[in-house]
Amino acid sequence: MVQQLTAPTLAVAPMLDWTDRHCRYFHRLLTNKTVLFTEMVTTGAIIHGKFDFLAFNPAEQPVVLQLGGSDPEAMAECASRAYERGYAGVDINVGCPSDRVKNGSFGACLMAAPETVAQCIEAMQKAAPQLRVSVKTRLGIDEMDSDEFLYGFIDSIVDAGCKNLTLHARKAWLKGLSPKQNREIPPLQYQRVYDAKVRYPQLHMMINGGITNAADILTHLQHVDGVMIGREAYQNPAFLGCFDSIVSAPNELPVATSASFEQQLAVVEQMIPYIAAHLEQGGRCWHVVRHMLGLFQGQPGAKRWRQWLSQQGPSAESAHELVQNGLEMVLQAREKFDHNIAESTNAG
Ligand SMILES: Cc1cc2nc3c(=O)[nH]c(=O)nc-3n(C[C@H](O)[C@H](O)[C@H](O)COP(=O)(O)O)c2cc1C
Repeated sequence: MVQQLTAPTLAVAPMLDWTDRHCRYFHRLLTNKTVLFTEMVTTGAIIHGKFDFLAFNPAEQPVVLQLGGSDPEAMAECASRAYERGYAGVDINVGCPSDRVKNGSFGACLMAAPETVAQCIEAMQKAAPQLRVSVKTRLGIDEMDSDEFLYGFIDSIVDAGCKNLTLHARKAWLKGLSPKQNREIPPLQYQRVYDAKVRYPQLHMMINGGITNAADILTHLQHVDGVMIGREAYQNPAFLGCFDSIVSAPNELPVATSASFEQQLAVVEQMIPYIAAHLEQGGRCWHVVRHMLGLFQGQPGAKRWRQWLSQQGPSAESAHELVQNGLEMVLQAREKFDHNIAESTNAG
């Protein structure tokens, strides 16, 4: 295990309720080289929960576990378990502003307690010396949003031995804004992330927040070591189709800025046996297909695909039938679209 990520890195962000293991399996079919983060899992769930919250499919690798917690002993215990289970790294959530997280004294409010984060990092590294530990945080919280405050926080985690940092390029308001608003209202400040990279050249630094296309990824990679993408990757998964080209040639705009239609079809076909296996283990189609709704976004048939899966997915009992019927609708819509284009060209 290398304790520091290599540059350039592209990553899909941790997203609660979104980047579960089924989502990550699906995303992995669209990109080999992207680092996939789990949704945040709390130390309490891992240590006391009745399910195996660390389960993942080896095909998802490299996958980083994002931990929510602030008790160094519990964080160390989870780091050790994660290392044994083969996770490519463990990330500490210092960016989530929700009330539930605040009450548990972790997430973004930990920016005000850098010594606690440092203790967690030290304890985690002691428990699992080979483990790659990272921190994901914001530019500040509430009125504590100066560079001085941010650098004080970073100094503290660097001193504790952390070599990997992701900065969501905006502050969070812990009072008054919902988590969703906190992803939209505080303005993005990319330059402050670039400045932090200049100040900490030894840190592997990823930028996050509002990044939605290949050209912007390339621009960011001129300043930082990696780019983490959240909502756009989830809502428009075909976007992941250009990530491997960017990792291989980070100075060139990829020829295709998203997965081709053929690639998307192939991915859907590969998901059928995966969903069927999930059903055999007592799961439901919906657990998996809910992550696939955005696949054909912006293309003919996208709406029908989304509607079909949303309507039929929750009660579907056959993966093959559900997905093949959905695909049929996409193909029909595509044919109709091509036909209409041909007609209008002929008419013109
Ligand atoms: C539904 C949802 C759940 C999220 N859950 C987490 C989480 O568990 N841990 C975390 O660090 N950030 C979480 N985030 C924040 C994202 O990781 C990311 O920082 C944010 O969405 C900004 O990136 P984007 O503009 O590319 O989406 C979540 C975001 C969304 C939309």
